[in-house]
Amino acid sequence: MLLEGKRIAIFNVANKRSIAWAIAKAMDAQGAELVLGYQNERTKDAVQGLAQELTKMPAAVVPCDVAFPEQIEALQETVGESVGTIHGLVHSLAYAPKNCLHHPFLFTEREDFLTTLEISTYSLVALARVFTPLFAHEASVITLTYLGSEKVLPNYNVMGVAKAALEASVRYLAHDLGPAGVRVNAISAGPINTVAARGISGFLDMLDLHQKKAPLGRNVEAREVADAAVFLASDLASGITGEVIHVDTGYHIVGV
Ligand SMILES: NC(=O)c1ccc[n+]([C@@H]2O[C@H](COP(=O)([O-])OP(=O)(O)OC[C@H]3O[C@@H](n4cnc5c(N)ncnc54)[C@H](O)[C@@H]3O)[C@@H](O)[C@H]2O)c1
Repeated sequence: MLLEGKRIAIFNVANKRSIAWAIAKAMDAQGAELVLGYQNERTKDAVQGLAQELTKMPAAVVPCDVAFPEQIEALQETVGESVGTIHGLVHSLAYAPKNCLHHPFLFTEREDFLTTLEISTYSLVALARVFTPLFAHEASVITLTYLGSEKVLPNYNVMGVAKAALEASVRYLAHDLGPAGVRVNAISAGPINTVAARGISGFLDMLDLHQKKAPLGRNVEAREVADAAVFLASDLASGITGEVIHVDTGYHIVGV
């Protein structure tokens, strides 16, 4: 029970394949009390249904579309009222307009670039700030990133730029929140078949290549990413902040 007594808010679950849902299940199994976020009415029912599967009912299931600053602001009150202080924040959300994940990066339009960075990167900063008054001492902030931040991966395009900025944001947030005892880290997950991932052109080929080249000779499971999130949220990781941990069956170390 690594997370007994800890209250952790997770944004956002879309369906049972979401990495956020794998994290929710793993954290629930380790005794955490959860707040679950969903983006909009389209995913609300699915998330409320999934919540029934947890051993402990979530303290709250809350809407959070990060395109609306007022929804982010409102979380301070709604989450504060339902759980008071929190010991963890999981940021597991991203979005890029579909055409950005098909055409060459060179042709990324201004609006699409800004939207991708707002939803996928700035949202971490905004959520961390809104929850700062609610963070318990030694709280843990965790976000999800991908190797496309470090290396060029076909079709990942502007999302790679957003993830590079996300990883830099992790370091700056770790610096700013460190004096309060709050840790900020990222998990760089290998490819996992989710709704967001299937939006990337050629994603199934990526899965295939990853499996062939990764030292462990297979793709990573969402459960393994979730276990790393449990570790980062737990007191076992009390000395780790500003870090990007690869949970990708070793793919990132391979050159050819
Ligand atoms: N699946 C992979 O291969 C993979 C690998 C590395 C990192 N990641 C990252 O993991 C995170 C979770 O993605 P996933 O793969 O579980 O896919 P997913 O589709 O299950 O989750 C994406 C989430 O983003 C949310 N979202 C999109 N736009 C939003 C907005 N405007 N406001 C609030 N929420 C919004 C969706 O509602 C959904 O819950 C993302 O940051 C993704 O980049 C995924």
